[in-house]
Amino acid sequence: MKYLTNEKLTIVGAGGMIGSNMAQTALMLGLTPNICLYDIYEPGVHGVAEEIYHCAFEGANVTWTVDPEVAFKDAKYIISSGGAPRKEGMTREDLLKGNCQIAAEFGDLIKKYCPDVKHVVVIFNPADVTALTALIHSGLKPNQLTSLAALDSTRLQEALAAEFGVQQCKVTGAYTYGGHGEAMAVFASKALIDGTPLAEKTLSAERWAEIKHATVQGGSNIIKLRGRSSFQSPAYQAVKMIEAAMGGEKFTWPAGTWVNEGKYKNVMMAMPTVIDATGCHFTAPKGTADEMAALDASYEHLVKMRDEIISLDIVPAVKDWKKMNANL
Ligand SMILES: NC(=O)c1ccc[n+]([C@@H]2O[C@H](COP(=O)([O-])OP(=O)(O)OC[C@H]3O[C@@H](n4cnc5c(N)ncnc54)[C@H](O)[C@@H]3O)[C@@H](O)[C@H]2O)c1
Repeated sequence: MKYLTNEKLTIVGAGGMIGSNMAQTALMLGLTPNICLYDIYEPGVHGVAEEIYHCAFEGANVTWTVDPEVAFKDAKYIISSGGAPRKEGMTREDLLKGNCQIAAEFGDLIKKYCPDVKHVVVIFNPADVTALTALIHSGLKPNQLTSLAALDSTRLQEALAAEFGVQQCKVTGAYTYGGHGEAMAVFASKALIDGTPLAEKTLSAERWAEIKHATVQGGSNIIKLRGRSSFQSPAYQAVKMIEAAMGGEKFTWPAGTWVNEGKYKNVMMAMPTVIDATGCHFTAPKGTADEMAALDASYEHLVKMRDEIISLDIVPAVKDWKKMNANL
């Protein structure tokens, strides 16, 4: 088995549904043989490790631990799904306080044990705000830490494909930007359906509103269907993000990234991004007046959540962020 790198990948929350799927996906894609599975719940992470051993991946060198020092020491790549998931009826935002406290500790562990980590992907929700918290606490450079935001766009792609009866990959140029939450901004004015602009297709305003609603509610729908929060798609997409940071295939679905320019200041939000071995790079989204207004509204929603974690003392006031992270 040829692996992309031998550097240490730590999976945080590895005892959970996303974490366990990420361990398997990372080995199946041949990212690195050196994977450390970490969780605070011993039976969970122990059980996942046993299952991975029973897969007998060739050349794998998988360890597991509940000791954060062992997990974070010398890690070069980290993916974290280590936080509470949504239950039916909950929004991602309902998880704000508890999961941001976990994110602050997560960032502190990075600063203490692996300041030389190359890339970190944060999954646990609300992912843009937990990622921002982790970025401030970790001291990392902004392009070294991203959050998983791709699923909103893959759900939009799927909904448009179903609407027009085409293969999913034939829908291109349809993305969501801004927050990974109820206030995400849908950008589809440049979408192509099997090569034809969406604007030239027959789609009533009502149907389009339903598609957008289905996109925003895509995660809740999985909870309704399966009785639990989605785990296969977040595991796959997050591992693909880390694969790109390791120098593998570039990751081009939108990622949550640090933004501090133009009218969007001091937040992490989904943008048109590319992740490669040099980190995450973004460009400003271009869209219709309506799409840009939706992005402004999404940004305002993120600012509210950011200000809430400041008022809870989970992160300092914006003017003091540099004291915690000189790279901001
Ligand atoms: N960004 C996205 O697109 C996306 C999509 C789906 C789910 N999620 C989020 O991912 C997170 C994980 O979901 P899941 O289904 O794997 O949940 P899960 O409950 O199955 O697993 C979470 C694991 O994290 C562990 N954990 C909790 N606190 C921890 C800590 N401080 N350090 C280390 N580990 C800790 C738990 O013990 C558990 O094993 C949730 O917050 C969920 O909302 C995000």
